[in-house]
Amino acid sequence: MIDFHHVTKIYSGGHIALDCVNFRLEQSEFVLLTGANGAGKTTVMKLLYLDEHPDEGEIQIAFGEDPAYHSREGATAKRVQGLRRNLGIVFQDFKLLPDRNVFENIALALRVANASEAKVRNRVHEMLELTGLSDKAQRLPQKLSGGEQQRVAIARAMANEPYLLLADEPTGNLDPDTSRDILRIFQNIHAAGTAVLMATHDEPLIRDLPYRRIRLDHGKVIEAR
Ligand SMILES: Nc1ncnc2c1ncn2[C@@H]1O[C@H](COP(=O)(O)OP(=O)(O)O)[C@@H](O)[C@H]1O
Ligand SMILES: [Mg+2]
Repeated sequence: MIDFHHVTKIYSGGHIALDCVNFRLEQSEFVLLTGANGAGKTTVMKLLYLDEHPDEGEIQIAFGEDPAYHSREGATAKRVQGLRRNLGIVFQDFKLLPDRNVFENIALALRVANASEAKVRNRVHEMLELTGLSDKAQRLPQKLSGGEQQRVAIARAMANEPYLLLADEPTGNLDPDTSRDILRIFQNIHAAGTAVLMATHDEPLIRDLPYRRIRLDHGKVIEAR
């Protein structure tokens, strides 16, 4: 599904954030992307959601159709829209719209994909159930706990049934108990058939997980198992 082939990313100023990175992620896998702050985890995510381009190498992305190739030249505009539609993204800081309630935050993801109003309503309710937020649909984000806000973000990310869920330090702002709740939601999502790539440096949280790990250090893959 995803294949990083000799990918190097150099930010302006000359900092080498990724140095000839190779890894694969298969359909329906759960993979942990680990490494200290500055190791390059967020850069991997940005390359995958096409926010940055590789300077060298190529990323092959195939979501149940002909593969697209993301390289120095980028990807064509039409391709970018198609690829992004098949990705769900969750960030450390939730990135919810503060002036829209929970329902509307989730609905927006469906509306930009031109879903009918009936589909929006059905799908938002399914996502509220998935994330245990059915009684919070009318709340504004600031009236929710951090864990609840992250659950809204997960509901939004899953609304369009992505092939791959990207989560960049999704528990970075949460306490250990809440972090485990959030992890369990990702595990349920994975069990239902969606691939998950989760970047984290929360070792206690992931210590006993059976998933494959890709460990980055200063932009290099130092461990892949
Ligand atoms: N936009 C940028 N411009 C310059 N350097 C950057 C930029 N983004 C990240 N970096 C640097 O690239 C390295 C990798 O960053 P990042 O991918 O955010 O690591 P991580 O998510 O593992 O903490 C770090 O040294 C960081 O300072
Ligand atoms: Mg990061």
